[in-house]
Amino acid sequence: MCGITGIVTQNRDDIGALLVMCSRKLTYRGYDSVGVAAVKDGVVNLRKDVGTIDDVDRALGLSKMRGDRGIAQLRWATYGAPTKVNAQPHFGCTEDFYGAHNGNIHNFAEYRKELIDTGHIVRSENDGELCVHAVDKYYEQTDDMFEAVRLSTRDLKGAFAFAVGRADERKIYAVKMGSSLVAGVAPDATIVSSDLPSILPLTNRVVYLRDGEMVVLTPEEVKVYRIEDGRELDRRPEVSNVDPHAAEKGGYPHFMLKEINEQPQVARDVMGVLEGAKSDDWLRLIEDASQKYLVACGSSYNAGIVGTYYFNRLAGVPLIPVIGGQFIPMYGNALKDDSLCILVSQSGETKDIINVLNLVRDTGRGKTLGVVNVIGSTLMFGADAYIPMACGYEVSVPATKTYFSQTIIFAYLAARLGERNGTLDPSEAKRFVGLLRDDLPRLAQTTIDRTGILTKNLAQTLMNERDLYCLGYGFTDGVAREGALKIKEICYNHCEGMYSSEFKHGPLSIVTDNYPVIFVTTREDSWMVINHINEVRARHGRTIVVGEYEESLSHYVDRETDYLRVPESDVLINPLLDVIPLQMLSYYLSVDLGINPDLPRNLSKTLTVD
Ligand code: F6R
Repeated sequence: MCGITGIVTQNRDDIGALLVMCSRKLTYRGYDSVGVAAVKDGVVNLRKDVGTIDDVDRALGLSKMRGDRGIAQLRWATYGAPTKVNAQPHFGCTEDFYGAHNGNIHNFAEYRKELIDTGHIVRSENDGELCVHAVDKYYEQTDDMFEAVRLSTRDLKGAFAFAVGRADERKIYAVKMGSSLVAGVAPDATIVSSDLPSILPLTNRVVYLRDGEMVVLTPEEVKVYRIEDGRELDRRPEVSNVDPHAAEKGGYPHFMLKEINEQPQVARDVMGVLEGAKSDDWLRLIEDASQKYLVACGSSYNAGIVGTYYFNRLAGVPLIPVIGGQFIPMYGNALKDDSLCILVSQSGETKDIINVLNLVRDTGRGKTLGVVNVIGSTLMFGADAYIPMACGYEVSVPATKTYFSQTIIFAYLAARLGERNGTLDPSEAKRFVGLLRDDLPRLAQTTIDRTGILTKNLAQTLMNERDLYCLGYGFTDGVAREGALKIKEICYNHCEGMYSSEFKHGPLSIVTDNYPVIFVTTREDSWMVINHINEVRARHGRTIVVGEYEESLSHYVDRETDYLRVPESDVLINPLLDVIPLQMLSYYLSVDLGINPDLPRNLSKTLTVD
């Protein structure tokens, strides 16, 4: 949520263009409002308004702003409505101080009052403004920007990062206090940002930061300090091998479609990682734990549900899936020294997950295994060990390829655990891992090719349905929830994902003539799902089926579009494929409804707030 970018150049005067070019890569983090503070000859010029970066740039000429340093921010509103005055960056009491933040300041109300009571001119309802005032306050006391920024963090409670500058200094300061922040060193500039994609247009020399650290950008270098005592740390830039063009659409109309189409390659890449050297360490960590919790949010949680079925089936190992925000109230007190929390997060920054990471670290009860996509994220650095999803950037707000990668990771780990604990015959484990490695990429491609037109046509027929259900059974439980989440998220239709045997315990009453219910099934469960289909059809509902072709199922659909057939495969590979037509259906439905699926309203890809 929210993206900040700060740049200090050596001999350039085009700070607006640089900030817009780099910040545009953070659009997935927030698109409610945008602002740029550009400093030229010791004067700060601030332009900001409601809208996407492209809208505001067009209206206010952000990219034409001149200067040699500045800060830009893309906002996803939490504290304060998305209005011009709440847009970031902000000034302090005077226009000498400018800055912007990402995250939440939890003591917002008390601190805002305290600042106002002591004479600060606070203009907005946004917590980011308080960061600038906190620095302003300590500058009054110390006359030293470095100390002012360092001390300001003592007043601010919450998880956040901010960048701040003073009009008369050719420097930008930034702190990392629980939200993501990375820096970079280019030949003619330095940069600090909420995320790597906005650094890469300028440089691949990246400085990764940890919580409790502060960076100072000068035109030539980035220096890292410990906030606690101001001690300088020896942190050199590392060369990032992430492809800077990965965050481009590459000919696709939307990132979402591009990312769906990348899934065959993701299957290859993640299997390369899993069959590499470290997987025995990950397996040992899982084996050594008495209780194994799988903690995740949104799509990552849905993938975890699928994983739970694999762990049970292939390894006889119970995983306890828990929604990130529920973990502490539900299981926090039950953690034991030998508990394991498998923390699954694409961004590696989701606050609900980081809270659990911090709990385990602070209490010393248990261990953590991260499953993470963003390299350099808080989860990656903080977990006892981490498994990379190997997806490259996922730019589109709806998760697709990272969900796919997560399900492959769980299927693989389950097979290897089962082989090691004797639940699975070694030859069967070898065969299944071979299918994941050798067959899944091709099958995923066939699924995309085969269901593309069909899902496009099906979407046309669902355009006016404001309400539907997506039901799964057994392995397809998590798949159905994921399909429903995609439809809700990018089509703004109510779509509930649930267990199909549970539908008759209440929700069935919603079914009337042609009420649409999507059933996701595997070959082994279709006999049961047919019972549930009949319950809907007996009330004249419309049934749509996702799964392999089976004669018995074909009788329960009324038109060709209503049977989204994935290619025939092993019964345990099938649940991995079933999600693809649901991703494509939601994509086409979203586009047909005139929505940009990459940037659904009210959302942000990285949720660093509680
Ligand atoms: C849905 C989606 C979200 C995320 C959720 C967790 O398409 O993208 O539901 O899955 O916000 O995010 P991560 O995995 O970054 O922790």
